[in-house]
Amino acid sequence: MESVLQEIVTRAREKAPALKSRPEFEAFKASYVGPKGELTAQMKELGKAPREQKPVLGKLVNAAKQQLEEIFEQTLASLDALEMAARMGEQIDPTLPASDALGGTAHLLTQIRREATDVLRRVGFVVAEGPELETEWFNFDALNTPLNHASRDAQDTLYLPENFTASNVKRRASERYLLRSHTSTVQIRTMLARKPPLAIIAPGRCFRRDTADATHSANFHQLEGLYVDARVTVKDLKAVLDLLVRELLGKHFKTRLRPSFFPFTEPSFELDVISPDFGKLSNRWLEIGGCGMVDPAVLSACEISPQKYSGYAFGFGLERIAMLRTGLDDIRLLYQNDLRLLRQFA
Ligand code: PHE
Repeated sequence: MESVLQEIVTRAREKAPALKSRPEFEAFKASYVGPKGELTAQMKELGKAPREQKPVLGKLVNAAKQQLEEIFEQTLASLDALEMAARMGEQIDPTLPASDALGGTAHLLTQIRREATDVLRRVGFVVAEGPELETEWFNFDALNTPLNHASRDAQDTLYLPENFTASNVKRRASERYLLRSHTSTVQIRTMLARKPPLAIIAPGRCFRRDTADATHSANFHQLEGLYVDARVTVKDLKAVLDLLVRELLGKHFKTRLRPSFFPFTEPSFELDVISPDFGKLSNRWLEIGGCGMVDPAVLSACEISPQKYSGYAFGFGLERIAMLRTGLDDIRLLYQNDLRLLRQFA
């Protein structure tokens, strides 16, 4: 009987890997432990065996039964895996990237900044940078902005506490630190560091003491431009702004320079744009930025001779361009990182 039992287990072990389905498995299992199964038959034999042999034979039958159960269990597990694979299609390669992986995209403001800097680079501008934490001198004094000018008011500009110190931005004892209210500070930093001819663009974040609503945000982004050379005129300014507007907004746009005032430019203008084909905003003049010829006082503050050199400067808000281009009517949408919006303008 011992060899018969061994033979049953060996055969079961050999046959098991060939099983392909659950019904096949059930039949296989029954052929050993079902009512007419081979092991069942051996258990019946055990009943007929002489009493003194029963303990020994009983152990052997139990051992064989346990081995068979193990084979059944393993077979069932591999059948499960097969079925799972069949349901999922081809074998999965876990090292492949997920098919619906979320690809990252540049934010709308980043896209516009890049487009604008690419256009201006083509005509010779290089990108310059300045700190977001600034001093009153760079943000106002050097830009010919008198002490009593409204923009210097603490209602409009975000000042740091008197006892604040920043090791990387130097200040005079009499002045306060502030968060720059415009990127025009980079005009000054550039002209102190380098002498004409120079043509720079400075994209960057600015801060104002504004309560957030649909059109205001305490922090926003500007793009500054500055060109200083021997004989720069308003005509040069208009040409570069025309190029920028057409590239950013479309060929159907016209521009105009409307007289205005900034302490650091003279003459100063607002840049307005208009298009016959701009949806609800068609045929309306829309203001998009400020500009003008660099004030001689600013050149002097930067130790550049106003007799030898002239220049133009412009600055506009990236948010404004983003909103005009997309029809977004609330500036706050640009900072909320709602995936639906990010994807829409991907
Ligand atoms: N700095 C101005 C502003 O923030 C814009 C400007 C830049 C105007 C350069 C003239 C020249 O409103």
